[in-house]
Amino acid sequence: MKVEYSRKEIYGKDLKKVNQVLKSGWLTHGIFTDEFEKEFCKYTGSKYCITVSSCTAGLHLSCIVAGFKKGDEVIVPAMTHVATAHAVEHTGAKTVIADIDLKTGNLDLENIKKNITSKTKGIILVHMAGLPCDLKRIIRFCKQKKIILIEDCAHGLGSTFKNIHVGNFGFTGNFSFYPTKQITTGEGGAVTTNNKNIYKKLKQLKAFGIDKDIKNRKIPGDYDVKNLGLNYRLTDFQAALGINQIKYYDKNLKRRKEIAKRYYKNLEGNKKVTLIKFDKSNSFYVFQILLKNRNKLIKKFKELGIGFSIQYLKPINKMSYYKKKYKLSDKNFKSANLFSKQVISLPVYPKLKNKEIDFICNSIRQTINET
Ligand SMILES: Cc1ncc(COP(=O)(O)O)c(C=O)c1O
Repeated sequence: MKVEYSRKEIYGKDLKKVNQVLKSGWLTHGIFTDEFEKEFCKYTGSKYCITVSSCTAGLHLSCIVAGFKKGDEVIVPAMTHVATAHAVEHTGAKTVIADIDLKTGNLDLENIKKNITSKTKGIILVHMAGLPCDLKRIIRFCKQKKIILIEDCAHGLGSTFKNIHVGNFGFTGNFSFYPTKQITTGEGGAVTTNNKNIYKKLKQLKAFGIDKDIKNRKIPGDYDVKNLGLNYRLTDFQAALGINQIKYYDKNLKRRKEIAKRYYKNLEGNKKVTLIKFDKSNSFYVFQILLKNRNKLIKKFKELGIGFSIQYLKPINKMSYYKKKYKLSDKNFKSANLFSKQVISLPVYPKLKNKEIDFICNSIRQTINET
């Protein structure tokens, strides 16, 4: 039995929509982008949303609008994709890499406090594998210290904190629609915010800094540019692909939680596997487990054709660019280093069958018992 790491939730009606855009000849700036953004607001409960070409693009725009610049420091977790750190680096600010909480893979307040200086201007939180960070304490701290909080929600579609969707707690929330994510537009992302001013700035900067929407231009070229922008737009056919996925995401999320529960049932109580505590507000982008002899399991998965991933094999502090530039020492990243050494991500997607989950768990148990 082969089990893929990820399978898409794309159906005939989605392809019809994409076809409609392609046939119309109006491929970007169109009505499907507007509809997707509206649906995304509806789902997340955010007042405003802009689609972008990737989560990386969204994070970069968020950092620009937040005003991060040379001389500022912005804290990011060691356990994340480089995109989180790169977004800060591109503004000229210093990326301060913080160790994480081993129990969750997330930044907690203690990790943050250890890295605060008088230059700290912002923090980017990552909700690792969909598990929401302990936002209450962190938000209170950020407010006290006047620190801008940005949420990297690349793993977090469907995750909530106290029943509010992630991405609503800080300056912006930044989502990814990369193919392995909970929903996909090929590449793509969205930025949510509840502040109209931030929304307007993001919207302008994602399209060169142009001050007038294409629909409001009297003749081509009828616009001005007052700010240095980028081209970070999502196309209309990508947006069309995303509409039904977000509209019906509740069903997807329900199944993700069922899958996670089945993994727990299968694996809990096993002393050789560490499970992240079950949290019903987790959207389970993937199901992460920690184990000492990961290499043996990887070998077994490869033999059996079981798909998996590792978020992340190399924490940011071990990436040459950051390690060299900021002269980072392993002793400050004990938890991130251990997490990266032991973690493995098991597949979670609606099309994953119960018998496939059981097969994965049996192979884990078998491998563990052999060690
Ligand atoms: C935590 C995190 N942030 C940001 C990104 C970047 O997302 P994208 O590929 O949409 O740019 C990823 C990518 O997987 C990620 O895992």
